[in-house]
This record gives sequence, C-alpha cells and structure tokens, in this order.
Amino acid sequence: MECMHCLVTWVFLIWVLFLHPCTSQSPASELDSLLQDYAYRSLRHPHTGIIYTGQVPTNFTGVSISALRLRSGSLRKRGFQDYMQFDIPVGVLVQPYVERLIFVYQNLGNWSSYYYPLTGFTYLTPVIGLLAYNAANLSSTDLSYLDFVASESPISIDFENLSNASAGADPKCVWFDLAGNAQFRDLVSSNKCDAYRGGHFAIAVNTSGISPTPAPPGPTHHKKKISSKAWKIIGGTVGGLVVLILLSMLICCIVRFRREKKVKEMENRAEAGEPLHFARVGGAQAPVALGTRTQPVLENEYTAVGLS
Ligand SMILES: *[C@@H]1O[C@H](CO)[C@@H](O)[C@H](O)[C@H]1NC(C)=O
Ligand SMILES: *[C@@H]1O[C@H](CO)[C@@H](O)[C@H](O)[C@H]1NC(C)=O
Ligand SMILES: *[C@@H]1O[C@H](CO)[C@@H](O)[C@H](O)[C@H]1NC(C)=O
Ligand SMILES: *[C@@H]1O[C@H](CO)[C@@H](O)[C@H](O)[C@H]1NC(C)=O
Ligand SMILES: *[C@@H]1O[C@H](CO)[C@@H](O)[C@H](O)[C@H]1NC(C)=O
Ligand SMILES: *[C@@H]1O[C@H](CO)[C@@H](O)[C@H](O)[C@H]1NC(C)=O
Repeated sequence: MECMHCLVTWVFLIWVLFLHPCTSQSPASELDSLLQDYAYRSLRHPHTGIIYTGQVPTNFTGVSISALRLRSGSLRKRGFQDYMQFDIPVGVLVQPYVERLIFVYQNLGNWSSYYYPLTGFTYLTPVIGLLAYNAANLSSTDLSYLDFVASESPISIDFENLSNASAGADPKCVWFDLAGNAQFRDLVSSNKCDAYRGGHFAIAVNTSGISPTPAPPGPTHHKKKISSKAWKIIGGTVGGLVVLILLSMLICCIVRFRREKKVKEMENRAEAGEPLHFARVGGAQAPVALGTRTQPVLENEYTAVGLS
C-alpha cells in the first residue's frame, strides 16, 4: 500500500507546517514557564510562609525570582504582608481552588522591555510579576497559572525606586494580565500601584508625545496578538483545506483499494473455474448462484450483470 504510506507522510508534513505553530507560546509565557521551574527548584523541602530565593540560569542574568508557599485558606484569612514588593491583603481568592499554592515573584530587571515591549512608553521600574501555581507537586513543570482575585481590598505594589529619567511626564501603572494584554491605571502614590489580579506590573511614562518621531500609541503586545491571531486564522483555513484534500485522497484510496480487492477476488474465483454472476439487488451488487433457490428479486425484475 504505497498510497497509504505517502498519505501518512503528507499528514505529518501538514501537521508540522500548519498545526504545530498554532500551539506555540509567546516568549513571555515561555519565560514564565522557565521561571516557574527554577523557582520551584528552590522549594525542595519548603516551610509554609517562608520566602525562598530562586536561582535563574546564567543566560538570564539580571532576572531575580522567589517562591512562597501558602495554604489558600490562610491566604484568604490572613493575607501576606511584604512578599517582596507586594502586600497581599485578606480576602484573596484562588481559582480554581487548590489546598496549597506557590506565589512566584519575578523581577525582570534589564530584560523588562525585551519581554514586555511597550511602544511609546518608557519604563521607570523593572517589570515585576506575581503569579500563582498549584503547590501539589513541586517537581511539576509547564504548570498553568492559577487565577486569583483580591475580593476585599487591592494588593498593593511598592516599586521603591523610580528612575527619574522622564520626570515631569505623567507616569502610569501598567498591568499585563495573564494573557499578556496591557492595561493602564493611575498611581496610588508616587511609587505605588494597586492590583486585583495576577500578572506583571510596572510604572511607565507615555513618551509618544515627547519622542521626535511619534510611535503609534498603545501596547505592541496587543498588535502582536492580533497579527498572530490573523496568522492562526490563515493557517487554520489553509490547514483545513489541505486536510479536506487529504481526506478526499484517502477516500479515493480506500475506494480504489476495495475495487482492486474485489476484482482480484473475482479473478481468483474465475481462475478457479467458478462461474460468478452478479445481480443488482437494491443498490448493491451481490454475487448470486445461478439457477438455484430464490433469486434476488426487486419489483419482479432483476438485471444480471456480468464480470467487469
Ligand atoms: C537559557 O537556558 C535555559 C537552560 O539553561 C534554556 O532552557 C533556555 O532556552 C535558555 N534561554 C535562552 C534565551 O537562551
Ligand atoms: C542584562 O544584564 C546582564 C548582565 O548584567 C547581561 O548578561 C544580559 O545580557 C542583559 N540582558 C539584556 C536583555 O540586555
Ligand atoms: C510530580 O510531577 C513529576 C513530573 O511531572 C512526575 O514525574 C511525578 O510523578 C509527580 N509526582 C506525583 C506525586 O504526582
Ligand atoms: C532601591 O534602591 C536601593 C538602593 O539603591 C536598593 O538597595 C534596593 O534594592 C532597590 N529596590 C528595588 C526594589 O529595586
Ligand atoms: C534624579 O535622581 C538623582 C539622584 O537619584 C537626583 O540627584 C536628581 O535631582 C533627580 N532628578 C530629578 C529631575 O528629579
Ligand atoms: C500617549 O500619549 C499620546 C500623545 O500624548 C496619546 O495620543 C496616547 O493616547 C497616549 N497613550 C496612552 C495609552 O495613554
């Protein structure tokens, strides 16, 4: 069956070309997975409520991470003051519910604008992240984020030192949600922001009015999302078409294979000297023995069809 063989190769090729890129992650979420792994490595025999500093691989020098394990019940009732730059109040709910969770803190340092580019804005602080994961298995990698929400009062973020490069401009709190979409809010005080959910945070100033060649306003992240969405649609359409073509090829193959098999069968029987006659019964052809017992009869007539 050469036909089938080449079909399998084609299906594999199509999968590699069209479907595989659709499942790839954004660089920022790949970094999250990597940092989750490295943060968890600092937690071999962790005590609940202790902050552990993680080691990052040498190719990410400049990034710092920590991990903190909490029971979600105690998080809700007591919160956690001073987890690095985050003050976590009472009333934080984790979705979906887990018994214990790990808060991974990230400080992206000089990698901030590499992973979270914001056209038209200048960061006054590094981008920092607060992400929650299930603590059930500390050897896990590629964990998905847990969503959490501050239901009573907001989580307070203290950025401590603001670079004063763009003093005079109107600074904004920037929040990248778990999907990477940027949203802007006002500062609570000169270096503090509020947050209600997880993600990445920074303070940035809008420099698009200042720069000599004004860049298009708004986050590049968003634009990237749209174009990647467009590519997914194009990829999906082309992929769908190809799958359709392959499917019809497959059906052709099967039909041809069955026909060949039938012909071979008949040839074999003919060689064996066994006369074979076909009659049309309903829609299908069925071999019948001539002159014996009941004939297949449809509305008092039948057509005998010879070999061919
Ligand atoms: C950095 O190193 C880690 C492991 O050491 C590797 O998984 C990762 O792909 C590397 N990243 C870059 C950007 O080189
Ligand atoms: C950040 O700084 C470290 C050294 O301090 C350097 O190795 C790394 O390449 C820098 N990262 C970027 C994105 O420039
Ligand atoms: C934890 O996760 C690792 C890696 O995914 C797996 O090998 C191990 O069996 C898991 N342990 C438990 C207790 O589920
Ligand atoms: C703020 O600046 C001080 C002094 O330079 C430094 O020790 C501290 O780590 C900085 N804080 C943050 C959050 O970067
Ligand atoms: C920026 O900070 C430096 C020291 O950190 C200070 O001497 C300077 O006056 C500041 N500039 C502005 C415009 O605030
Ligand atoms: C940034 O500033 C420019 C010009 O001042 C303005 O058009 C734009 O809407 C601002 N962007 C945001 C996100 O506030």
